[in-house]
Amino acid sequence: MTATNDFIPTTPYTHNIEKGIFQWSAPSNIALVKYWGKRDDLGHQIPANPSISFTLNNCKTITSVAFEKKVNQDNWSFDLLFEGQPKEEFKPKIQKFLERIAPYMPFLKDYHFTINTQNTFPHSSGIASSASGMAALAMNFMSIEKELHPEMTEEYFYQKASFLARLGSGSACRSIKGNLVVWGNQENIEGSSNLFGVPFSGKVHSVFENYQDTILLVDKGEKQVSSTVGHDLMHNHPFAERRFEQAHENIDQLIPIFETGDLEAFIKIVESEALTLHAMMMTSMPYFILMKPNTLQIINTIWKFRKETNIPVCFTLDAGANVHVLYPEHTKEKVLQFIKNELVGYCQNGQYLCDQIGFGAATL
Ligand code: DP6
Repeated sequence: MTATNDFIPTTPYTHNIEKGIFQWSAPSNIALVKYWGKRDDLGHQIPANPSISFTLNNCKTITSVAFEKKVNQDNWSFDLLFEGQPKEEFKPKIQKFLERIAPYMPFLKDYHFTINTQNTFPHSSGIASSASGMAALAMNFMSIEKELHPEMTEEYFYQKASFLARLGSGSACRSIKGNLVVWGNQENIEGSSNLFGVPFSGKVHSVFENYQDTILLVDKGEKQVSSTVGHDLMHNHPFAERRFEQAHENIDQLIPIFETGDLEAFIKIVESEALTLHAMMMTSMPYFILMKPNTLQIINTIWKFRKETNIPVCFTLDAGANVHVLYPEHTKEKVLQFIKNELVGYCQNGQYLCDQIGFGAATL
């Protein structure tokens, strides 16, 4: 088993690099079994239960990191650009990320970094960019570390990237690789870890190939509850322990479902997970309702369409009002038509994003 200390370099770096630049893209991901709740007693960003997600393909962050040796090595120094323009508001988050990863990346104070980041999805679309953003950043820092220590194995490179991304934002650790990623200790998934995400190694039926995710933008406003506050609500939550057990059970049940391609069973778990996530928020203290009337309209319309057509389309939700519509590739034409005819009216300014399952971070 890998432990936190395994990601602290034990020998000095073998190479000396003056400057350079890397660029990586990393996608967003959508959880099928949700991460909601942290075990703060076990360390930073340790999930209270395991989760599993589809890595997405089109919704991604593209980040370059230029680095140059500096004289004063007492503290970090970096500039942050968003779409080429300085963005002071984003700096504290990056500063915190650097502080968190510093024990594992001893070179950080040796360089000045220029971080330039952009998203492929519209700004303020209500889609969180923390998963893709932290994953893209982690990949760049790993590329720098690999220059300093080229002997590093590929396995270590990706595991540590996921480990670092997790310290930035928990779900980001599931955005390094594709196309189904497990994060969190799960007894019968070999190699699963609380420290980083691992690609699901079980058999996966061809019906899940190119699985589609159309994201309906119901409410593009600022998040009502930040994920940090949200996760905290699971402390002393009356249903927490049972919920954490349920996540394990749901992942267990998904293993044979992925193999057989039983979409009816798949849908039951995925939709139940989405509603359970929101049920946790509705039953915490303080309590929140993050769905909007249109979220419910969409859910009911999907249920009606599924019943009438037998097309295996379902929904899942994040900690917000937007709806992810999930369906197999072979139903794409019919479902897109359905979305255009019956669901677009519930989206803010008729906006939605078409995505599908993808393969993780890529160097550019
Ligand atoms: C509802 O990963 O955003 O999307 O670790 O505090 O950054 P932090 O939280 P974050 O939480 C994601 C919660 C979720 C479910 C999921 O993606 O599993």
